Amino acid sequence: MKIAIMGAMVEEITPLLERVGEYREIAYGGNRYYEAKYGSLDLIIAYSKIGKVFSALTATTMIEKFGAQKLLFSGVAGAINPALKIGDLIVATKLCQHDLDITAFGHPYGFVPEGKVFVESDRALLSIAKEVADELSTTLYEGVIATGDQFIADEERKEWIADTFGADALEMEGASVAVVCDALGVPFLVLRAISDAADMDAGFDFDTFLESSAKESADFIMKMLDKLNG
Ligand code: ADE
Repeated sequence: MKIAIMGAMVEEITPLLERVGEYREIAYGGNRYYEAKYGSLDLIIAYSKIGKVFSALTATTMIEKFGAQKLLFSGVAGAINPALKIGDLIVATKLCQHDLDITAFGHPYGFVPEGKVFVESDRALLSIAKEVADELSTTLYEGVIATGDQFIADEERKEWIADTFGADALEMEGASVAVVCDALGVPFLVLRAISDAADMDAGFDFDTFLESSAKESADFIMKMLDKLNG
């Protein structure tokens, strides 16, 4: 079984590479991919760079060039739901693009013809995530993650995303990866640990908590791999 694990930033995959130990680096398409073995699993690991375009490119490459059969995304997010505090883990039940707007043509926000507003995560991977959380006695929030090519540090925009999509957290890559995986028939899961509250302090909090929250998420992903290993 070949599993892709991706992040957006180097900080999001460094803890994974440290855990797998040995890996082989392959340069492709302006990016670096890391092949590793983890028990019976073949892993392909990469960070995409920030945003929807780079993350779509990386997810597609992991599937089409490297043959990934499942994809796990690990990283950080800004909280919308006030229950979510820095370091908390949230797994997306479904994802949407909050910055996709052709409402001028009568379509809802986040929708383009022949697409859909929400892309749902794989149920089997979601239940593995829940099993891991139970075993670790860790709280794992489940909710809607909204993605856009904007770092949100603004209460008004955050409220709008909450009201429009019922979103619990926001980030900049999940939905584009979800669209790719959905189109190519690859089961996926997006896991995020909260780094900030997408408010006026978000820039400062992000810088402060990126590394620690990225590690929370990566540690959880490693536990999921242990389960997938059987
Ligand atoms: N990822 C983590 N925090 C974020 C924020 N506030 N906006 C967009 N992406 C994020």
